[in-house]
This record gives sequence, structure tokens and C-alpha cells, in this order.
Amino acid sequence: MIKGSFPLKAFKALETPFYYYDIDLLKRTLETVKAESGKYGYHVHFAIKANANPHILSVIAGYGLGADCVSGGEIRAALDAGFPADKIVFAGVGKADWEINLGLDNDIFCFNAESSAELDILDELAAAKGKIASVALRINPDVDAHTHAKITTGLKENKFGINLSMLDGVLEQLTKLKHLKLIGIHSHIGSQITDMSAFRALAVRMNEVQEKLDTRGLHVEHINFGGGLGIDYHHPNHIPVPAFADYFAAFRQLLKLRPGQQVHFEPGRSLVAQCGSLISKVLYVKEGEVKKFVILDAGFTELIRPAMYDAYHYIENLDSDGQTETYDVVGPICESADVFGKDVELNKTRRGDLLAFRSAGAYGEVMASQYNRRRLPKAYYSDENGFEA
Ligand SMILES: Cc1ncc(COP(=O)(O)O)c(C=O)c1O
Repeated sequence: MIKGSFPLKAFKALETPFYYYDIDLLKRTLETVKAESGKYGYHVHFAIKANANPHILSVIAGYGLGADCVSGGEIRAALDAGFPADKIVFAGVGKADWEINLGLDNDIFCFNAESSAELDILDELAAAKGKIASVALRINPDVDAHTHAKITTGLKENKFGINLSMLDGVLEQLTKLKHLKLIGIHSHIGSQITDMSAFRALAVRMNEVQEKLDTRGLHVEHINFGGGLGIDYHHPNHIPVPAFADYFAAFRQLLKLRPGQQVHFEPGRSLVAQCGSLISKVLYVKEGEVKKFVILDAGFTELIRPAMYDAYHYIENLDSDGQTETYDVVGPICESADVFGKDVELNKTRRGDLLAFRSAGAYGEVMASQYNRRRLPKAYYSDENGFEA
């Protein structure tokens, strides 16, 4: 088994389960994304939904990135962490009035509007404050992201965005809404996308949308492609930093920009997944009739991705170098779905061993719940005292 490098001695003194973040890796990832997007002058807004841990957010804000928010709570978290309001974009099919007002009060950069009904309310709320809200239309491009159905967002049948067939009507509507300023078009087709052809198809589709705008004499300054770049969950030690160069180049090759247009992205997972691990202790090794179970003190309350998206995480036993054996790795929650992996190869495992779930920095801690009245997991960081690997 290939192992990551962890401060095992320090871990032994801590109560499990907990999240551990490798801040050096986070910084390397941020440096790469800045360098690769910077080649073309592209703007990057971190999708806070992937990880809203205040320490992680402040590191990311420190690199000058913007923030992509999908709730009022995320707007607050972004502002608290030091993301400037004029780099905050706000998406979501169901923005509540107070959330829109929070965005208006803070003069955020842009509302990514997802329906005609939302535009009417945005206009009404902006008018009540005597403001003009900057708006990008989130287009549903009907492009298949070739990813898990539960994280596909850009197909006609998904709830997100404005269908292409309805765009003309929405553009007509906008001419009447005097407290909105159309500044851009936006799209986000899904998550954990590793097939660059999906992004190429998106770039081509957005070119077509631009042609439609041209025919109406409309020029938008900003084009936003959302997030979605996937990571390698199977090889966290070999490929810790995702393929940002290929990703941005795919858009660069195909995009037909109009003079002065700015291009934006909203990566979440690709920035933070690999720097985070969930560390859990083995409570019992249970011999079943046909299976051997490793029962942990972490369950889907700490990491829901396997139960919710059938997601795979590479699991390591940090305490054992023994022969590998095959186990079903499960949590303590009273639900059959509380399974992290079936037939997982692990070094021989005993009660008290620490296991690391790798690539858990995105959609991990932020999705933790207190179901079964459990405690929320704590988080520790490699740049804290005592965590030198
Ligand atoms: C609007 C929007 N932007 C960006 C993202 C981030 O996606 P990812 O974490 O796959 O990069 C999401 C995630 O679903 C999203 O809904």
C-alpha cells in the first residue's frame, strides 16, 4: 500500500474522528491554479460549497481568489474570511429574499440568475434599495458532463439554469427590468468531470449563446464556466494537484471571445479535495460469516460521499504495514448505507489503528451532520504547531 505522509505521533494524542488538512499541498494547488489561469488572464472564484472551513477559506482568500457562493451563509463566510465583495458571485435556484438582500447590501460582483421568476424578484428587491444589481444569466447548456447523475447539473432535465429555448424570452424580459444590469453569462455542468471533452462541448455551446446575444446587439463583459474539474481519487499520492493546465487550455483553444471579455471559473473540489483527509480510529474488527468488517468511529455523518454518491476514497491504515487483507469498511451509524467501501484491501487491521480517508477535503467536513446526535468532527492543520510530518 502506498502511504501518504502524516504526523502519526501527533495524531495519537487527538480524539477521533477528525479532519486533517495539508496546508502545503493546498498552497501548491493554489499556486498552480493561479499560474495556469494567469496565463490567459482568467479569473478564479473558489466554490465555497466544497469547503467552508474558516482556516481553509482564509488561506484561499490570501491568494487573491474570488468566491462562488450558493447561499447567504456562504456569502457571510466569504466576507468573514476576507474575500472582497467585488469578487463574490452568487448562484442557486432558490435564493431567498434575505440572501438576495445580503448580496445587494454588500454590492457583490454578480448574481448568477437561474430563472425568469428570480429575475423579477431580484429587480424588485434592487429597486427597493435604489440599486442596480449586476446579473449573469445561468444558462442550462444541455451538455452531458459524463459524471455521476447526482452531480450532473447541465442537462435539460436538471433544475439548474435557464433553458436555451427560453433565453429569448428572458432577454426580452430583461429589457423591462430597470434595476438589473446584464453583465454576463454563466454555466456549470456538473462536478468530478475528468473528461475534457465535456468542457470543450461547454465552450462551444457558450460560443453559440454569444452568437444569439450578438443577433440582439447584446454584449456581455463576463463569461463564467462554473467549476467541475475532477481529481484523481485513486492516486492521491501520485497526482495531488489536478490537471489545471489542460483544463484552462481546453477553453482557451475553443472560446471565441469578443473584445474586452473576461473569463471566470468557479472550481471547488479541484482546489481542496486532495489536501484533506478524514482520520478515524478502528473500534472493532468483526468477523462475519462471509465478510470481515472494519468498524470505525467515523460514519457518513463525517464523510457522506460514499453513501450519497457511491464515491470512492483511498483508505490507508496509518498504523500497520502487515500483509493486506480484504475488509468491508463501515461506520457506526444505524443505517445500512453507512459503508465506506466493500472488499477494501488494507494492511492487517486491529482495534485502535488509525485509518486515513484520502482526498476528503472537498464535500467532506462541510457536509458533516449530527445525525444520531453525533458530534461534529474537529479539524487540524499542518501549519499548526506540533503537526510537522
Ligand atoms: C454553481 C456552481 N459553481 C461551482 C461549483 C463547484 O464545482 P466543483 O466542486 O465540481 O468544482 C458548483 C458545485 O456544484 C456549483 O454548483
